[in-house]
Amino acid sequence: MNPLDWILLAIRWGHALGAVAWVGGGIFYLMVWRPVNRRAPAAAETSRIMGIEYRGLVNTAISVLLLTGVILSVARLTEDNITLAYVAVLVVKIALACYMFYIVRFLNPRSYPEDLPSGSGWLGKVRSSLTGTTSVLIIGLVVFGLADVLSALFETSLD
Ligand code: HEM
Repeated sequence: MNPLDWILLAIRWGHALGAVAWVGGGIFYLMVWRPVNRRAPAAAETSRIMGIEYRGLVNTAISVLLLTGVILSVARLTEDNITLAYVAVLVVKIALACYMFYIVRFLNPRSYPEDLPSGSGWLGKVRSSLTGTTSVLIIGLVVFGLADVLSALFETSLD
């Protein structure tokens, strides 16, 4: 391996850590912390503070994912063997990741998105189901899976 390969390996490691911190944190938040907190005294206040703290972690993860993601994309897209299928899946992955960034950074500027009570009418219901904590996690799990698809497509294109 040449020095550039080692640098790319470190960048891939940083990208994977950012993804694990956000998506893994989301699984813990929804499946462990929130049910426990609902039974605790002053649940609303702890939930508010937790949202602010978790948001700090997610903000760091977003910066790391964006920076390392752009470098990984440039590294992959400049390889000779890259296929149209790879580019298509990468575009979908980036679009979904950007939607996650948008929900956290612009729709919920102060805290981590809580699942909002369903809005009135079908439009309100669709809106709250597409922008809450659970939807961010589900999209994150899809993005995680697409990263595996990308890796498989790249390896197949080497054959
Ligand atoms: C929510 C945001 C994101 C998540 C959860 C995520 C997750 C992942 C994971 C788990 C990997 C595999 C890392 C490994 O090899 O161990 C990966 C690879 C990759 N990601 Fe992301 N990512 C996100 C955002 C982005 C963004 C914004 C970009 C581009 C601007 C990007 C571009 C890439 C590329 C090019 C790879 C390499 C795929 C390959 O193996 O060919 N990712 N991502």
